Amino acid sequence: MTTLEAQLQQKNAQLAAIREISRAIAEAQDLNDTLDLITRRTTEVMHVESCSIYLYNPTHDKLVLAATTGLNKSGIGEFYLPHGAGLTGWAAEHRQVVAVTNAFQDVRFYRILGSGESKFPSLMAMPLVSRDRVIGAANVQTEARHDFSEDEIELFRFITELAATALEKAQLVHAAVVREMHHRVKNNLQTIAMLLRLQMDQEKKLAPHDILNETINRVLSIATVHEILSEAGVDKAGALDLIRRMSNTISNNMLNPAANITITVSGDNIELPSQRATSLALVANELLQNALEHGMAGRTEGAITIKLTGDKGRLRLTVADDGRGLPENFEMNAHLGLGLEIVRTSVVEDMGGTFQLGPNPRGVGTLAQITLPR
Ligand SMILES: Nc1ncnc2c1ncn2[C@@H]1O[C@H](COP(=O)(O)OP(=O)(O)OP(=O)(O)O)[C@@H](O)[C@H]1O
Ligand SMILES: [Mg+2]
Repeated sequence: MTTLEAQLQQKNAQLAAIREISRAIAEAQDLNDTLDLITRRTTEVMHVESCSIYLYNPTHDKLVLAATTGLNKSGIGEFYLPHGAGLTGWAAEHRQVVAVTNAFQDVRFYRILGSGESKFPSLMAMPLVSRDRVIGAANVQTEARHDFSEDEIELFRFITELAATALEKAQLVHAAVVREMHHRVKNNLQTIAMLLRLQMDQEKKLAPHDILNETINRVLSIATVHEILSEAGVDKAGALDLIRRMSNTISNNMLNPAANITITVSGDNIELPSQRATSLALVANELLQNALEHGMAGRTEGAITIKLTGDKGRLRLTVADDGRGLPENFEMNAHLGLGLEIVRTSVVEDMGGTFQLGPNPRGVGTLAQITLPR
């Protein structure tokens, strides 16, 4: 290979790394993934043995190791540089590049015990500045003594400028996600408290065992939403997946294995924001429990069909059973138990939808219908 070809190949590799780091900026979701990607790609493209990123912790005014390819990884989140300490701390404090062939002989050198740094004599450090704020510093280190060239300094400067933006964005996303999680946990605990309170006010006296069983099913429906959210990693859950899993949980909990009762779930997997998905799961849970508890009471055979459909404007959920049907002269308001109260409150009051419960037009059993604006 000619020198020119070699140089071209190197430039191509550098461009690819820069492109990848730019993409990370656009897609920055998870802080750790972003850190990991930047340090790995920088190590490769700069032909160094280590790339580390320290993030500034304003509470303790220090730079904390956040990612590294060459240092002792167990020090991530632990190793730190006090304000201005070390060559990397100096780079952050002075907002300037530092490039030295023998770091150990530099008066600014600061040893982090156990970091594994002693095998890297040469070091280049850059501040990470985003929107005129120092958010941290990054360095690269080599095992063999190395004079960093102007070219290398320019490349590293370019990468760290991109990285600073990516990291700031990922940090912001991270903070927002954590806040959202707390908010969601709080909402769910309130929902559970509300369910328990409603249950306490019930006139109907159930055996403690039954009360607990119902409550367990309600809590499990909420858990199902979070199970799906944790897998998807987003704030949206597919409503059909949700209902399907909820119905699996319920049937495992409530169905007598000897009975031949089938539960079919079909329709469109409509994406819903987490709050709405939680409400819908609770509602579907109540309707399914009723179909099993009342419709199928004392039966060994039966079919329950759950359907979810949606068009632009509305979402429609139906739960049909071919069971023994509603009690004679059933009137929703007069016979409202806790279950239907939950359905009515969430659907009509909270989500502005409609709820109907009546005889199944197919002749036997009961049909519950819900529509929700989207
Ligand atoms: N699918 C159904 N088939 C037959 N009867 C039903 C059906 N769904 C509801 N019902 C009737 O409506 C009543 C009220 O239901 P609701 O869910 O509000 O209370 P519950 O199921 O009795 O108690 P909870 O849900 O609080 O444990 C039920 O007791 C039952 O008589
Ligand atoms: Mg019920």
